[in-house]
Amino acid sequence: MLEEIKKHIAEVATFTATSKEEIETFRIKYLGQKGLLKTFFAEFKNVPNEQKKEFGQVVNELKTTAEAKVNSLKEALESSEESKGIYGDLSRPGEVLELGSSHPITLVKNKIIEIFSRIGFNVSEGPEIEDDWHNFTALNLPEYHPARDMQDTFFIQTNPDVLLRTHTSSVQVRYMENNKPPIRTISPGRVYRNEAISARSHCFFHQVEGLYVDKGVSFADLKQTLQYFTTEMFGKSKIRLRPSYFPFTEPSAEVDVYWGLETETDYKMTKGTGWLEIMGCGMVDPNVLENCGIDSEVYSGFAFGMGIDRIALLLNQIPDIRMFSENDIRFLEQFKSSL
Ligand code: DAH
Repeated sequence: MLEEIKKHIAEVATFTATSKEEIETFRIKYLGQKGLLKTFFAEFKNVPNEQKKEFGQVVNELKTTAEAKVNSLKEALESSEESKGIYGDLSRPGEVLELGSSHPITLVKNKIIEIFSRIGFNVSEGPEIEDDWHNFTALNLPEYHPARDMQDTFFIQTNPDVLLRTHTSSVQVRYMENNKPPIRTISPGRVYRNEAISARSHCFFHQVEGLYVDKGVSFADLKQTLQYFTTEMFGKSKIRLRPSYFPFTEPSAEVDVYWGLETETDYKMTKGTGWLEIMGCGMVDPNVLENCGIDSEVYSGFAFGMGIDRIALLLNQIPDIRMFSENDIRFLEQFKSSL
């Protein structure tokens, strides 16, 4: 009899169940009204006196083991049901998480920042909602200056002093007002112009402004810096500077990079000339330095400004600038590998 009970203890210890019904059957078998334990306890009176002690211990052990087993199986079942309720089937395969991609404009912007940071330029930013002083007047564009018409401006409500910046040159002014030379900074950001939206132009786009102010900065420094930039950015080192006009620089120039005419695409991109216009630049006009509290007798500087969208369009052969702001996943997904 003792051996039989011990076998039951071993069986109970290894028993497992995954459903309520199985646990209940198990419970009834051992602990029920007509269960095995009742039978064994009833047997107690027939056990010879000298074996009573051991018999009692073994039957008790069977009882506690069976009770503990029922409780632990019930708990395990409940907690697994609970977690299923919240998380579903935890053993099913995971869902694939799609990785996002940087926007093509961000990619170009980051590359420009990286190239200039290597030669000591920091990054500065200014507000998109500007005042007249920072966007125009301080940049040598006083009221009624005809060059203000070069950039159609969005004004905020009817206040002519509050507007959406038309270029990132406004950040030049803010930076010079708040920092002493030597200054080496680039300012990327979004700008706004009241223009008809088409495949080639938008009412908002992105620019990067560059500014270098120190003692003895010359036009040669400007040209060298630009050549460094085009080499790093496009792998092209041949550039030309065409005389131009900007109110905030004197002299001013437009920068073309020689792209080449090797392929049909080169031909299309450069309209058959081999040259691509990429930015405006010049020596900061002494008036602008003075407007920002910098002594133009002591310091000189150069500045440049380029459109990021245009470069991103060119580099990726994108036919329509509106694609940049449509947020079409099928378009954006194509830039995954460029991270
Ligand atoms: N602000 C000019 C524009 O939006 C670009 C520009 C030209 C910036 C010459 C400059 C510069 O700093 O020197 O068209």
